Amino acid sequence: MGFIIGIIFGIALGMGLMIGLAYSESIRHKRRSYLATTIAAFARMSVLDSRKILPSDSYPSWVVFSQFQKLSLHLYLLNWLNLQLDKIWPYVNEAASELIRTSVEPILEQHRPVILSSLKFSTLTLGNVAPQFTGVSIIEGDPGEVTMEMELQWDGDPNIVIDVKTKVGVGLPIQVKNVGFTGVFRLIFKPLVEEFPCFGAVCFSLREKKKLDFTLKVVGGDISSIPGISDAIEETIQNAIEDSITWPVRQIIPILPGDYSDLELKPKGILEVKLIQAKELTNKDIIGKSDPYAVLFIRPLPDKMKTSKVIDNDLNPIWNEHFEFVVEDLSTQNLTVRVFDDEGVQASEFIGVAQLPLKEIEPGQVKDVWLKLLKNLDVQRDNKNRGQVHLEVLYYPFGTESGFSNPFNPDYSLTSLEKALKNDGTDTAEISKSSTLKKKDVFVRGVLSVTIICAEDLTNVDLMGKSDPYVSLILKKSGQKNKTRVVNNSLNPVWNQTFDFVVEDALHDLLMLEVWDHDTFGKDKMGKCIMTLTRVILEGEVTDTFVLDETKSGSLRCHLKWTPQPIYRDS
Ligand SMILES: *[C@@H]1O[C@H](CO)[C@@H](O)[C@H](O)[C@H]1NC(C)=O
Ligand SMILES: *[C@@H]1O[C@H](CO)[C@@H](O)[C@H](O)[C@H]1NC(C)=O
Ligand SMILES: *[C@@H]1O[C@H](CO)[C@@H](O)[C@H](O)[C@H]1NC(C)=O
Ligand SMILES: *[C@@H]1O[C@H](CO)[C@@H](O)[C@H](O)[C@H]1NC(C)=O
Repeated sequence: MGFIIGIIFGIALGMGLMIGLAYSESIRHKRRSYLATTIAAFARMSVLDSRKILPSDSYPSWVVFSQFQKLSLHLYLLNWLNLQLDKIWPYVNEAASELIRTSVEPILEQHRPVILSSLKFSTLTLGNVAPQFTGVSIIEGDPGEVTMEMELQWDGDPNIVIDVKTKVGVGLPIQVKNVGFTGVFRLIFKPLVEEFPCFGAVCFSLREKKKLDFTLKVVGGDISSIPGISDAIEETIQNAIEDSITWPVRQIIPILPGDYSDLELKPKGILEVKLIQAKELTNKDIIGKSDPYAVLFIRPLPDKMKTSKVIDNDLNPIWNEHFEFVVEDLSTQNLTVRVFDDEGVQASEFIGVAQLPLKEIEPGQVKDVWLKLLKNLDVQRDNKNRGQVHLEVLYYPFGTESGFSNPFNPDYSLTSLEKALKNDGTDTAEISKSSTLKKKDVFVRGVLSVTIICAEDLTNVDLMGKSDPYVSLILKKSGQKNKTRVVNNSLNPVWNQTFDFVVEDALHDLLMLEVWDHDTFGKDKMGKCIMTLTRVILEGEVTDTFVLDETKSGSLRCHLKWTPQPIYRDS
């Protein structure tokens, strides 16, 4: 929430100074030691103190179950911080109004919904109830910085009135009431220096938003008299928080003069995502089947979320769509996929959500994943089958240091995928410029040779004897087809046949392999698998075993080979 950003601004600053003060006191006699070592000393010092302050049977329950070590230090710190916070709260409250106005209004303005023409604070006091720290931990890591995480809980009685002007000129004072907030903030003190207060700047970020409730009320009126306004303001607030302080986005408060631009969060690379298909989606329609589409994002901001097309009446949709996302922090960010059933004019129905932690991705390497759709990312156990989505991801960091070797060397390099292929150095600006060009404009041409070697452990679909399988090869985009010969009476057939296809737009095509049973009367499907061509384009040759879908068992062993032809750009 907007004003929470302001409060945190104030708290982080106050906190920074308080911690600085504590450190400088304890290092008076050893000026040469680093802040990190001082913390250790501080920890030992506080064991006795903390016993005095809190008997062990009054430890709050979160302490017992937390992974936080050094209990006594944390209890001591927590108690001390809350005491300090209570003390400084009246001053924070007094200073808040201006601080929040200057720091938060521009952020709200950026996310102002189109139906409003302005959004400004008219009254702003934070009330008498100070937030409480309910958890604190020091995260060990980089010796050049100190990182703390603090859980903060606030059930406040603020007096906040936002002056809202709608496009039709109606001015409305809207009061924000009953604020309930719980979140974990991460504070990073960096760089560590010898001079007081021992660090140059403090960064803070909302690591985890656990709870945020508030009610909106029109002063002297009824908010429901203006439909949609409540949702619009709530969305503005959520987006402002997401965009300004939600991890990995951070705010930097310089304490000592200096250039701290290296602390800022910067785009680190591009994630290429291919939304290939989904299977066994839950049917949400009473008549016919769901019309699924997917929403993909790394950060849940309206302009950073991508939506696929709708596939009508299909619980096993093939989308074959390509999206790009900017990555700021590979180690903590996730790619989220939400699948919905399109209901036309009515609101879409949610089918399921899946998440891929980006830390599982090896830069420069194609990763092919099936993700199980869940009801909700917080609920661990969700036994109901909602289906799965099939993605291909490729992460490409900016800069030259990544050093991918690649046999493929295009004359034009317009997409970041191609930059990965070409292995050259590029800067961020160039990438973002190029990624605004449509992928459709870029063609990667070549000859794809597919050898269908054999299949293993196929599921029998014949009533008498064994199936007579053959493989049908289809290129989804170009529509080229071919098929192997039939092997009679076998569930482990060997074909060893090679097929060549000239592919005009390999970055956007899919190879679909379907195993069929050749019957005198009609034919039966024995499974299929779908793959992109990215891996073979990058690696030149691939031999692999592909598990078959839409069947109980079975796999297909293939060899793929890519022979590139010069790239051209459609003009
Ligand atoms: C990514 O997901 C993990 C759990 O899988 C979670 O702990 C983490 O906070 C998420 N990262 C972000 C930036 O939301
Ligand atoms: C497979 O069986 C069909 C009839 O059942 C027969 O016409 C065909 O010649 C057989 N093929 C082979 C390779 O044995
Ligand atoms: C497939 O054919 C190649 C030569 O065309 C041969 O070397 C290989 O052994 C054959 N593999 C199988 C499984 O028959
Ligand atoms: C199918 O594959 C065979 C063997 O590679 C080839 O001779 C034939 O021309 C292909 N047919 C089509 C329609 O591509």
